[in-house]
Amino acid sequence: MQHDKIEKNIGLMAILVAVVISIGGLAEIVPLIFQAQVTEPADGVKPYTALQLSGRDIYVREGCYVCHSQMIRPFYSETERYGAYSVAGEFVYDYPFQWGSKRTGPDLARVGGRYSDEWHRIHLIKPQDVVPESNMPGFPWLLDATLDGELVTKKLKVMRMLGVPYSDAEINAAAESVNNKTEMDALIAYLQVLGTKR
Ligand code: HEC
Repeated sequence: MQHDKIEKNIGLMAILVAVVISIGGLAEIVPLIFQAQVTEPADGVKPYTALQLSGRDIYVREGCYVCHSQMIRPFYSETERYGAYSVAGEFVYDYPFQWGSKRTGPDLARVGGRYSDEWHRIHLIKPQDVVPESNMPGFPWLLDATLDGELVTKKLKVMRMLGVPYSDAEINAAAESVNNKTEMDALIAYLQVLGTKR
């Protein structure tokens, strides 16, 4: 085949480039789909409770991922500071995962249990009250909004469609379990579970 035909025809060139890149992409992605190591939950990893899942959505809504990653890389400098490096099995119930790519603040993959609920509450209202040099903004409005039980129930159902193994009992109890809880309670419940299951 004469190569100059391809080089002089940009349409043909574009199609062939796409074909070649797709083959490379598939060779990398397809085997991963079948590997238990990346599709099965790591030891002790459980689906989020209704309250934690609500908190995860507030984390996304408030853009916490813009300044915080949730992905500890396998480097000494990271494992010394944040704990054991992250593995794929820890994120199987995260739709979408919150790995992030920017660290204005510290990684949060293993922040669960590091501080008390009360510390988080003060920190989220006004970070400078506990970390004077902090440039993290406050999120005081989270104290005022309460969760919507009906919405939480829908979220669990959608998660189940995506493959998270929620039981009927868990879905039926979801609304009641977030009754009278504030967005602040939910976000803290979420932060407190991060990285504790491994
Ligand atoms: C503009 C960037 C920025 C945003 C947005 C932001 N943070 Fe932070 N965060 C920081 C910085 C910087 C620190 C380190 C200083 C401190 O502790 O306040 C931090 C610290 C933290 C810590 C303590 C981590 C540790 O290991 O000490 C937690 C928890 C936290 N942020 C949660 C959140 C949550 C939840 C949100 C979203 C509601 C959020 N942050 C939004 C910048 C940010």
